[in-house]
Amino acid sequence: MQEHLNRARLSGKKIGFVPTMGALHEGHLALLDVCKSNSDLSVCSIFVNPTQFNDPKDFQKYPVTLEKDIYLLEKRKTDILFLPSKDEIYPNGTASLRHYDLGYLETLLEGKYRPGHFQGVCQVMERLLMTVAPDDLFMGQKDYQQCMVVKRLLKIMQSSITFHACDTVREPDGLAMSSRNTRLNELDRKKALAIYQTLLYLKQNLKPGDLFPLMMNANSMLAANGFKVDYVEIADAESLEPVANWNGSQPLIALIAAFIHEVRLIDNMLLVE
Ligand code: PAJ
Repeated sequence: MQEHLNRARLSGKKIGFVPTMGALHEGHLALLDVCKSNSDLSVCSIFVNPTQFNDPKDFQKYPVTLEKDIYLLEKRKTDILFLPSKDEIYPNGTASLRHYDLGYLETLLEGKYRPGHFQGVCQVMERLLMTVAPDDLFMGQKDYQQCMVVKRLLKIMQSSITFHACDTVREPDGLAMSSRNTRLNELDRKKALAIYQTLLYLKQNLKPGDLFPLMMNANSMLAANGFKVDYVEIADAESLEPVANWNGSQPLIALIAAFIHEVRLIDNMLLVE
């Protein structure tokens, strides 16, 4: 793959990259569409990265649908699928991988509730980026904090890769597309919509001042639908620092992570840009 990409690079082709863990859906494919329209060669990787799963059960149960993925990628005319083995990504094993200084980003939200998760994301992303060496990288706002972490990784790597954050793709009823949605039974799939509805509620009822009552109601809406909430947070859209009292102009994002039975879903919505 590297030889092929080197030849393309030498002939002046711009390489775009969409890293994934497979079980592809329209969210991933939308990233590939943006990638294709911005690049001469589109590369998609599929690798279920063990080091970013803080819960071993989540890793074991992560859906694998490789044949369907290949079919979808061919249909969308992706140029290259990079499908590395664990040994290719981690030739020296996973015991003593590099630690990245992610600062406070790692101490809140996903960083707080999934210890080690973002270290794992950085470990695999650095390896993938060094291997593919793209000009442009396309990732989803669905994982807002991950976008911030990877931007920070690019700085740490002193990389010149251009980062593109792409909009979240939703099901017709509003549920954010996610590979984990396939693990929901019919009833839980219906209840899962409460995450999107709660985000909309926060957006529609936001007022300057104390945000605590709004957050209490949001928590109750999720609990009423059987969710075990990790967090509902309203944060500064640029720094991700929690905002308890809104001044009426600060850019805000609402972020939710919650379990429905054993499936953990996350979503977010910009409230004020
Ligand atoms: P994965 O969950 O497979 O997601 C791959 C990419 O698709 C990420 O950039 C994610 O934000 C984006 N994505 C997922 N659902 C989306 C949706 N509904 N709309 C738009 N984009 C969506 O994120 C990972 O894999 C991994 O952490 C990875 C970056 C590949 C590192 O292992």
